[in-house]
Amino acid sequence: MNKGRRSLFFCIVVLISFNGWAQLSKDGNVSNIAQLLKDMTIEEKVGQMTQINVDVICEGEIYKLVEPHHIQQSKLDEAIAKWHVGSVLNCGGHAYPVDQWHQIIRSIERTVQEKSRTKIPVLYGIDAIHGANYVMGSTLFPQQLAQAATFHPALIQQVAEITALETRAVGIPWNFSPVLDVGRNPAWSRFFETYGEDPYVCSVMGRGAIEGYQGENATKIDDQHVAACMKHFLGYSGARTGKDRTPAYLSDIQLREIYMPSFQAAIDAGAMTVMINSGEINGIPVHANPKILVDLLRNEMHFNGMAVTDWEDVIKLVKVHHVAVDLKEAVYQAVMAGIDMCMVPNDYDFTRLLIELVKEGRITEQRLDQSVARILQLKMSVSKISDATAVGLKDKIGCEEHIKVAQQVVAESVTLLQNKDNILPLKKEAKIMVTGPAAHSLILMNGAWSRTWQGVDTTWEDHSKMTIVEGLRSMGGKNVGYRKGCELNSYKKDEKWLKSLQKMDVIIACVGELPSTEKPGDIDDLSLERAQIKFVNDLIKTGKPVVLVLLENRPRLIEPIADQCAAIIMAYQPGDNAGEVLAKILYGEINPSGKLPFTYPRFNQSLLTYDHKHSEALDQKFGENAYQPQWPFGFGLSYSQLVYKNLKVSRSSSATEQPAWTVSIEVENKSDRPALETVILYLHDQVASVTPSVRKVKRFEKKMVPAKGVVVYEFVLGTDDLSFIGMSVKPEIEGGVWDVYVGDLKAQIEYQP
Ligand code: BGC
Repeated sequence: MNKGRRSLFFCIVVLISFNGWAQLSKDGNVSNIAQLLKDMTIEEKVGQMTQINVDVICEGEIYKLVEPHHIQQSKLDEAIAKWHVGSVLNCGGHAYPVDQWHQIIRSIERTVQEKSRTKIPVLYGIDAIHGANYVMGSTLFPQQLAQAATFHPALIQQVAEITALETRAVGIPWNFSPVLDVGRNPAWSRFFETYGEDPYVCSVMGRGAIEGYQGENATKIDDQHVAACMKHFLGYSGARTGKDRTPAYLSDIQLREIYMPSFQAAIDAGAMTVMINSGEINGIPVHANPKILVDLLRNEMHFNGMAVTDWEDVIKLVKVHHVAVDLKEAVYQAVMAGIDMCMVPNDYDFTRLLIELVKEGRITEQRLDQSVARILQLKMSVSKISDATAVGLKDKIGCEEHIKVAQQVVAESVTLLQNKDNILPLKKEAKIMVTGPAAHSLILMNGAWSRTWQGVDTTWEDHSKMTIVEGLRSMGGKNVGYRKGCELNSYKKDEKWLKSLQKMDVIIACVGELPSTEKPGDIDDLSLERAQIKFVNDLIKTGKPVVLVLLENRPRLIEPIADQCAAIIMAYQPGDNAGEVLAKILYGEINPSGKLPFTYPRFNQSLLTYDHKHSEALDQKFGENAYQPQWPFGFGLSYSQLVYKNLKVSRSSSATEQPAWTVSIEVENKSDRPALETVILYLHDQVASVTPSVRKVKRFEKKMVPAKGVVVYEFVLGTDDLSFIGMSVKPEIEGGVWDVYVGDLKAQIEYQP
């Protein structure tokens, strides 16, 4: 058959056999996917595996779009008709109002209907990581690190539900969240995006987020929910230098003990997609490592969903990692390593080269089918949102009810770290000077991924929201003075003003750092900027009590000033709904209940996590006192006086069942103020063949302890809780004794398997 006749024959067969997306996607079953795959061309399959940045299809140049950003039809036609693009991501540099989103999403949908033979919908993905942050007017929640400080997974699930709804309201069904990287290095620029340093806490919070994003049915996402994307698989946060996208050296045991549990919990909860770590582990970029992407992710962890690369990570195999000689080789490596979709995202080179590789026979069509099947399955699982539903949801964006939830997260996350002589709560009649570079700044409250990627452009601030000083003024009125006093990284002493502070009863110094994430957030020194340290020192020298409020991406070291401050509050990056809540905490209308989900370090060279090894605890005098952080993991004060007592452990006696232990503890509130209290239970394996950590979190629970009341907390532990990743690189249990720690109390468990 000559070429012309072959293609005519092909067209006729396609026209007859192509049943179309509309019919085949209805029940989303596997045989329908097989049918679709049979009917699709190589180009159409490779197109499905291609994800482009919205800039590519908008008018203007990439990163320099014409305002207001809008689709350029000829570019969109090219994406759909010529390249058969399967997915689009992001906003072009800043958030859009809901109507602008609708226009963009509808143009894409219309063009698919008009120009695509297969009519397979384009899947739009976005980073809605602390609320629908790229939708103007949406509810901004505290960042993930702050969310973890609530130790309240049901609340985190609610945050994700609202984020899903506000994302769906603009027509986007896929969210690149949550971050399940465990925050092991506090210097990392994305520390604030994690649920902190503990694998168990990350797992519990992450599961809550997945269930909130995706809804109850993990196989069918309804039109009020979104497909979640756990990221960044695997070991991204373990970089040795703490700088973004630098090498991690992680043993198989560490991977399984520290970095995998949060991803496994998300997979078990039905997470539909995963994003790959841009960095390298043990010298091999993860995007080119089938041992991680297939052996581990697919075979060991049983993930059946879709794997998307991170931004430009295929070309980075050439330009950054130097493991591929050219882009074609990089495409080959990444596809053969197991990626399904490539976040290219600014051109069609990946698409072109992958087509070539298949046509040359280097990559088989079966390999494409594997990935395309996963992409189609995902698309079939995500219900399309009707225009009517989207319009109906519009009013929900940033509504009062959602803001209340954001405020509850602030209330439950803000962590009181120091409160000498009960200087807090403040008295309403106290004369207060609010000062510092974070006192009157919405961008510092919001952090990165807020209307823009780095979150530093004040153009996008919502001035109907209150900064900290505005919140305090709304309660303390004219007793509250304000002066910035210091910039983030420069300070000029003003003796006259410092002297005038004698008239004040309290100084509230709000310090912190400019939002940042990823590479722009790399730092060389974890210390708080010297300018701010000097400034706070001058405030301390006035002799007036200084209350330090911290708004920061990560725990910046404050050792030179911490002890001299009267009180210290960690506000994290609480979002722009926090102004009033912070004021209520400072004035005592809200009793703080947040606890640190990480260790707050004291010195640059002592960045130990709470679950360090005994050898790391050894100090110069050979005692076990080297863990001297500014504040330990799990620390957080209350205005109430809470006492832990009666720690008891009882073992179930049934001979037939696996043994279980019930641990109970009473918390007594001796004060007149009700308090929310998180109780954390740790185990310490006294002897094990792989060096045990000094302690590990096994359970936590937050409950309300009424004024003058006593509440019992009860936890059930099983033999799984006694296991560790052994030399076999599998969970193992060895007989012995475990210490049970709750607060300052200690009990023991004995077990022989
Ligand atoms: C980040 C991801 C993000 C992606 C899309 C990347 O640079 O590492 O976390 O989802 O960009 O915006």
